[in-house]
Amino acid sequence: MRILGIESSCDETAVAVYDDARGLLAHRLHSQVALHQAYGGVVPELASRDHVARLLPLVREVLDAAGTRRGDVDGIAYTAGPGLIGALLVGACFARALALVWDKPIVGVHHLEGHLLAPLLEADPPDLPFLALLVSGGHTQLVDVAAVGRYRILGETLDDAAGEAFDKTAKLLGLPYPGGAALARLAERGAAGPVHFPRPMLDRPGLDFSFSGLKTAALVALRGRSVDEQTRADVARAFEEAVVDTLAEKTRRALSLTGHRRLVVAGGVGANRRLRERLAATAREAGARLYFPRAEFCTDNGAMIALAGCLRLKGGHPAGAAPPARARWPLDELEPARL
Ligand code: KG4
Ligand code: ZN
Repeated sequence: MRILGIESSCDETAVAVYDDARGLLAHRLHSQVALHQAYGGVVPELASRDHVARLLPLVREVLDAAGTRRGDVDGIAYTAGPGLIGALLVGACFARALALVWDKPIVGVHHLEGHLLAPLLEADPPDLPFLALLVSGGHTQLVDVAAVGRYRILGETLDDAAGEAFDKTAKLLGLPYPGGAALARLAERGAAGPVHFPRPMLDRPGLDFSFSGLKTAALVALRGRSVDEQTRADVARAFEEAVVDTLAEKTRRALSLTGHRRLVVAGGVGANRRLRERLAATAREAGARLYFPRAEFCTDNGAMIALAGCLRLKGGHPAGAAPPARARWPLDELEPARL
């Protein structure tokens, strides 16, 4: 089965062709970062307009790169939510029009299911079940993944997502949007010790997170100091350590609670090198194995949507039964896939 995947839930237009026998054949992505940078965040209207302009050329490009003609495509998968509703509707309309003209089955994919299944794109994929730490710009969740579509949320953020906290703190440090990766690079030059941040929620039982206080801690750390380059780097390092410590400790508790022997880290913050190092140690100590997608499939991409759509269509997902797009869509409301 060969699936064209389309992702347009936020500020990346991304497409891919995935074949269940041959794996990923090609993927293409256009990032809108430059478009939104002047505003310090994503402007939904501009995002929608740009998706309209980018989708068709990108799909042509990815089909060429995959050596695939429309007749070879067995189905179309697009991100149906959660995300920016205008951006999602562009992808939904585009995918539905293609499905109609090409007379192919179509499936609306849950964006977070895409992230959770992204490690299956790699050469040595995890078997299910596994524990997943999903850390993106919009979500921070520990998820018990029993099977494709059977997800139980064990804990989640009560306020900001980890990526959002990275981006907000990066802004305070004068880094351009989205600042997560830039903050991580700055942190590499920071010293351990001069600045200390709290570890939110570690003193409480349960697996929930809270990251909004760290932004305030960064403000306090920067206030009243002459903020030279080294201080900025020290604050970046202290912030990153606090986030990574919190994520690693709650993940350790979740591994112990569930007894899972496989740990998956997914979502944009999963590209963070410190987090990967710490989770590798956490997994080792718990006798579990850590899996993560390559960095470019941690952040938003079309490959994860094509793969998730392929698994759904193989199970005979009913075409058109679901709403075309949903801005909000809790992960645990998904129907299990019929595999
Ligand atoms: O999964 P994603 O691409 O989009 C959402 O679905 O939200 O995640 C984007 C988030 C942004 O907040 C970005 O700053 C963060 O992932 N991010 C990072 C790194 N690379 C991306 N955060 C920390 N360290 C990184 N290396
Ligand atoms: Zn995402």
